[in-house]
Amino acid sequence: MAITGLIMVGFLLMHMYGNLKVFLGADAFNHYAHWLKGDILYPLVPSGTFIWIFRVFLLVAIVAHIWSAAVLTGRAHSARSSKYAVTKRLSQTYAARTMRWGGVILAGFLVFHLLQFTAQVVTTGFRAGSEPYDMVIASFSQWWVTLAYLVWVAIVCLHVRHGVWSALTTLGANTSAKARSFLNGLAWVIAIVLFVGFMIMPLAVQFGWVK
Ligand code: HEM
Repeated sequence: MAITGLIMVGFLLMHMYGNLKVFLGADAFNHYAHWLKGDILYPLVPSGTFIWIFRVFLLVAIVAHIWSAAVLTGRAHSARSSKYAVTKRLSQTYAARTMRWGGVILAGFLVFHLLQFTAQVVTTGFRAGSEPYDMVIASFSQWWVTLAYLVWVAIVCLHVRHGVWSALTTLGANTSAKARSFLNGLAWVIAIVLFVGFMIMPLAVQFGWVK
């Protein structure tokens, strides 16, 4: 769970950084999007192959992450046959409490996201086959798309906030009070960077600052 989660946080940071290329204009963003699907690692691997290696890698990480979540949830339920007498939450954060359902909702949005931007089956104001820049501008010019992404990215970042902390704890980094407060701070910084970095572009399009 920890390792696959951290792999995905790495992907999110790269994805967020790439999206910011919209601010450099249509040519820069389209060139970047085509490069991702084209010549990475060429001629080491044939042109257009790397993206598929990467997609398989990411899919394996996602499936392993969900599978681990199911196993851990099953173990947690079978470890306790009776209900807790005291149900008031004393120290769990909101992010920690919403990991399971948050993860399910997050995955649901991800399916929509892939149908929208990768498969282009759900077209939100653009024609299938449009250039990536036109696709993004057309989508985030609509308030409901921007709002849906605001909710989704907030759920993702909440999940990441607890996930980073939890993963580093699982991997043995939570060894003292000082380490604990560092991990907590690091988890917050990553979550906030992701939230601001992902949402700044849709909001800039929505408010007409990027056209
Ligand atoms: C405002 C936020 C986001 C925007 C604007 C955005 C935009 C995009 C775009 C334009 C693509 C298609 C790239 C292409 O095929 O040319 C894409 C692909 C993708 N996005 Fe996002 N994304 C956002 C957030 C996220 C988040 C939060 C996740 C994960 C939880 C995510 C996961 C993916 C994945 C897995 C792909 C497929 C990559 C591939 O084609 O192999 N995205 N995104």
